[in-house]
Amino acid sequence: MTDLLSREEWTKRAAQKVSRTQLFIDGKFVDAASGKTFESINPRDNTVAANVAEGDSLDIDRAVAAARKSFSNGVWSEMAPLERKNIMLRWVQLMRENIYELALLETMDVGKPIGDSVNVDIASAANNLQWFAETIDKMYGQVAPVPRDAVALIEREPLGVVGAVVPWNYPLIISSWKVGAALAGGNSVVLKPAEQSPLSALFFAELGSRAGLPDGVLNVVPGFGPTAGAALGRHMDVDKLAFTGSTEVGRYFLTYAAESNGKSVSLELGGKTPQIVLSDCADLDAAASSIAWGVFYNSGQTCHAGTRLVVEKAVEDELLEKITNIAKSIQPGDPYDPTTAMGTIVDKTQFERVLGYIDIGKSEGAKVFSGGEKAEPVKGGVYIKPTVFQNVKPGMRIEREEIFGPVLASIAVESADEAVRIANDTQYGLASAVWTRDITKAHRIARKLRTGTVWVNTFDKGSITTPFGGFKQSGTGRDRSMHSIEGYTNLKTTWIQL
Ligand code: NAI
Ligand code: MG
Repeated sequence: MTDLLSREEWTKRAAQKVSRTQLFIDGKFVDAASGKTFESINPRDNTVAANVAEGDSLDIDRAVAAARKSFSNGVWSEMAPLERKNIMLRWVQLMRENIYELALLETMDVGKPIGDSVNVDIASAANNLQWFAETIDKMYGQVAPVPRDAVALIEREPLGVVGAVVPWNYPLIISSWKVGAALAGGNSVVLKPAEQSPLSALFFAELGSRAGLPDGVLNVVPGFGPTAGAALGRHMDVDKLAFTGSTEVGRYFLTYAAESNGKSVSLELGGKTPQIVLSDCADLDAAASSIAWGVFYNSGQTCHAGTRLVVEKAVEDELLEKITNIAKSIQPGDPYDPTTAMGTIVDKTQFERVLGYIDIGKSEGAKVFSGGEKAEPVKGGVYIKPTVFQNVKPGMRIEREEIFGPVLASIAVESADEAVRIANDTQYGLASAVWTRDITKAHRIARKLRTGTVWVNTFDKGSITTPFGGFKQSGTGRDRSMHSIEGYTNLKTTWIQL
């Protein structure tokens, strides 16, 4: 854990002008071709954090051209593995040396508690990049068992130019998964951060460049989805597009690919994660704590947030009491205060959307068990209290749709079978959890749950070593682990006749 500064010190640092606000293309900061900029708003108090260059299709063209040039001339893709690894490790070192600045940019952009930005977001982003760096000189090819008169090599080659379009909920963590795996695979990258969170990515890219990443290997083009994002998705010279965000926009990327060059697309989309608690759960206190943090962490703005509690009736009231008790220590506070456990909602649009869902839940007949309102620990900011709904019935909108806010929906059931049926009755399939002391039951249920991750007697555990991604409409492809590198490489067979 890195020590934190005082609230006064963070506030003072945040008042200084942000120094990296242009596009990062071919190793240099440049203005958008149009000269346009957009405001990055700090949701802590709704002030302008920075004016950022607004990239559009012309800038995407420039960035893709720089990436293609760097790929074709082999400055990165053909560099000796040990050397590539060392550059990435130097970059990791620079991230750690600049952890306060990176973390503050993340907090200013999206209103995360500064403690989380330092010790979760930036710390994990650096660890992720390190892990991918270390794979570079440990990836071996294969020799196929063909007849004795030939040798057939199976090798992994980079795809070429990778486009990454990422969201604002974990800006640098998600970027590090995609950029880390793509660069480890030898590709060149164009990264488009979300319009809500452009700042950390720009500094991240500069640090890469300082560490020795050749020009054009990593380009960052902030801008809006329908312009910059779509241009990257539709680009004829992009070989792969990696996306994390809403299911709706994920589908657009499939269309963009189909209407352009048929590029490969990986999608990490939404979720409506069920947390099944059976009445034989061994430790309701542990369950309550995991469930509360699993849905309220990051203000509930997590794709795999455990938003549906599917609980056997016998233990529902007791569990909701316990969850509400824990939620008392996860109340919204000033993101610059190192003791704050919950920050803001990312922006006004998302804030209105979450409050809208709270109203929908009430009008659908669900009962507010706790929370259910906004808060204003810092004047002008967008904060919502942890909210628990009881009496939620399958099919209600708050049970079906991704809210992306600190809202838990409790659905009471009579049996484990009913719990599994309800858990699976969703378009999504990112993650799920089951709490029971019966190990046989746990295995049986885990096998039936149609999700990319199943947690048993825990929640939100994972690491860079385990694959992460969805079944069903939660997406296709995986981030993290060696499996993700497969998604950024092509297999080549070389058949040598002897
Ligand atoms: P979004 O899916 O619109 O934005 C994610 C990224 O896609 C951003 O970089 C954005 O600029 C880009 N984008 C948006 N429209 C695009 C388009 N037409 N073409 C190409 N790129 C485009 O998500 P948004 O609007 O910020 O949030 C809406 C909802 O999406 C949230 O309430 C939540 O339910 C879900 N979401 C899920 C995330 C996840 O981690 N799976 C992350 C963010 C949002
Ligand atoms: Mg959107």
